[in-house]
Amino acid sequence: MKAVILVGGEAIRLRPLTLNTPKAMVPVLNTPFLEHVIGYLSQHQIRDIILAQGRLTPPIESYFGDGRRFGVRLSYTVENSPLGTAGAVKNTAKYLDETFLVLNGDIFTDRDITAMLTFHREKKAKVTIALTPVDDPTSYGLIESNAGGRVRCFVEKPGRDEVTTNMINAGIYIIEPEVLAHIPPRVSFSFEHELFPQLLERGEPVYATPSPAYWIDIGTPDKYFQLHLDLLGGKSHRFTPGDKVQIGKQSHIHPEAQITGPVVIGNNCTIGQGARLMGPVVIGPGSVIEEDTIIERSIIWQNARLGARVQVKNSIMAGDCRLEASSTIDGSVLGDNVTVLGGCKLGPGSRTWPGTVVEPAT
Ligand code: GDD
Ligand code: MG
Repeated sequence: MKAVILVGGEAIRLRPLTLNTPKAMVPVLNTPFLEHVIGYLSQHQIRDIILAQGRLTPPIESYFGDGRRFGVRLSYTVENSPLGTAGAVKNTAKYLDETFLVLNGDIFTDRDITAMLTFHREKKAKVTIALTPVDDPTSYGLIESNAGGRVRCFVEKPGRDEVTTNMINAGIYIIEPEVLAHIPPRVSFSFEHELFPQLLERGEPVYATPSPAYWIDIGTPDKYFQLHLDLLGGKSHRFTPGDKVQIGKQSHIHPEAQITGPVVIGNNCTIGQGARLMGPVVIGPGSVIEEDTIIERSIIWQNARLGARVQVKNSIMAGDCRLEASSTIDGSVLGDNVTVLGGCKLGPGSRTWPGTVVEPAT
């Protein structure tokens, strides 16, 4: 079975992390998110993958190339203007001549695709939608289905008064190729608002099947953060849990630094004397953490420079950030290349755009 991964959204809710980095390339445990997704598909014997990009995304193509390095075969499509989720798949139609899988590009899951395919075939479905339970369905697509799994209704981003179930669209579909005929070419068209409701109206066999497997959409900084906590906490069976400390190649940890796992340190990092890392913590490659700096429950991307006595807590820092001596950030999200001058503080909920210099008055 081939798979189409939708990687063309604007990723507005994940800003400032995605202002310079496409959502598919944000690092998760120091590896681009999409590499985890491709690894997942490959584990399920899906090795022929089409990446449906919005506009050309050079960082994706230059990193993944033809996919050989990752044991898969990759094809790419681009859109002149955003085609929406279903329109993006229609745009890949020349690659699709048999039952295929579609995956939203921001989903991390342990879901068993083979079981889903078996269900799809048993039901003779035209479309099978993966369901997952969530606490609050209002930011997802709500799906009501009957006991046999046949979908009764699909409500994208339901209002509070429309919530009748906690089951939502997990952003994974198995689709028969004839469904492509119901998607108009070269115009914006959505699975969620258009295709699924229209198929239901016509009485087409659209099914949905739940699973308790690990699932998350990394569409906001909070969810992106949560994925790290979950992976480091052992909630996905693709990572081993525990209080492990992983140290990359050519990284130097001062013998008087204190590290309490789970902590992942990338390659070529330096951790200075008296520094304290209290996991869950991820530090990107090429980072330098100077003496007596404290990092707690935070995700730091590549090439960070943290001066002496800096404190970082509950925060996410994109690439190339510089925190001068004795500065503090807590509950903050920094875009790339932010500088926080000596002694400055950034408090909970702050979002700092790439390139900003945070000065004492801030
Ligand atoms: N190529 C392309 N072109 N991709 C697109 C486009 C487009 O015009 N628009 C969105 N995408 C991609 C996004 O990059 C993302 O990977 C996926 O389609 C879904 O878009 P999101 O913007 O992340 O949607 P959402 O999270 O609000 O809602 C969707 O996912 C939920 C599950 O996480 C819906 O499918 C919901 O029904 C679902 O519950
Ligand atoms: Mg999403």
